[in-house]
Amino acid sequence: MKHLLKLSDLSTEEIYGILNLADQLKYERKNHIAHPYLQGKKLGMIFSKSSTRTRVSFEVGMTELGGHALFLSDRDLQLGRGEPIKDTARVLSRYLDGIMIRTFAQQDVEDLAKYGTIPIINGLTDYCHPCQVLADLMTIREYKGSLKGLKLCFVGDGNNMANSLIVGGIKTGMEVSIACPDTYRPDAQIVEWAQKNGKLTVTSDLKAAAANADVLYTDVWASMGQESEKAEREKVFRGYCIDSQLMQAAKQDAMVLHCLPAHRGEEITDEVFESHAEEIFDEAENRLHAQKAVLVKLMK
Ligand code: CP
Ligand code: NVA
Repeated sequence: MKHLLKLSDLSTEEIYGILNLADQLKYERKNHIAHPYLQGKKLGMIFSKSSTRTRVSFEVGMTELGGHALFLSDRDLQLGRGEPIKDTARVLSRYLDGIMIRTFAQQDVEDLAKYGTIPIINGLTDYCHPCQVLADLMTIREYKGSLKGLKLCFVGDGNNMANSLIVGGIKTGMEVSIACPDTYRPDAQIVEWAQKNGKLTVTSDLKAAAANADVLYTDVWASMGQESEKAEREKVFRGYCIDSQLMQAAKQDAMVLHCLPAHRGEEITDEVFESHAEEIFDEAENRLHAQKAVLVKLMK
């Protein structure tokens, strides 16, 4: 494993390798056992979109591993004024030991890896969000003991989260169902791959998708960069919501996860959110542990 550009690049063994190391790092942190596996290493973090969890967990993670993280907003980098990605990649490769990037086009992340000489980590693109799903898999395994054979249901937009959840779910042997409007389906190639390699259903029938689910997952109706579509999306997605009624369709002990930030009253009710807050904030915490594992795998 040289980069983390998207989950489909990883084997099932590599995914479990990250999850196991993440569990170990969580244990070490909890028990105040020093774990400076990246002493002196430097991570650049390029952001073209906002972030709370990704930014803070990567920065704290690097510090805890004995390294250092640099926050690089594209508003300040020459990248934001048009310096090409391929030049940025070659320059930053001379200073840093790794780059995490959050941006719009997946191609930019792939190009950083192509032209740079250091590990690249995708911190979210319009196409996928692999770091989030590694933390999600870690959280589901913590609560349920194992992943294989569970049913994971995602409700909402067939966006970056849906794409990565499909890949991560299928690779770890879960059954995945997506409830979305017909016009907002996940990436067609990912759907085709998943249906060949596992059990995936995509439907606009929420109840059918949620039936017998072990995990219900949702995300915002309008993602970062789609602010101008907000009004239109509110109409199309109305009803694509995890509420107490939908919970009835899932297993009685079903978990609820949300990558956050959440819009209560849209994709999830306040009641469901608050009654599953423990799981949701464990999930947010696990971003730290899962990403530290990725950093160690790539940069040690
Ligand atoms: N879930 C997630 O990636 O959160 P941030 O946008 O706050 O980083
Ligand atoms: N789909 C959301 C996820 C945020 C973590 C977005 O891209 O804005």
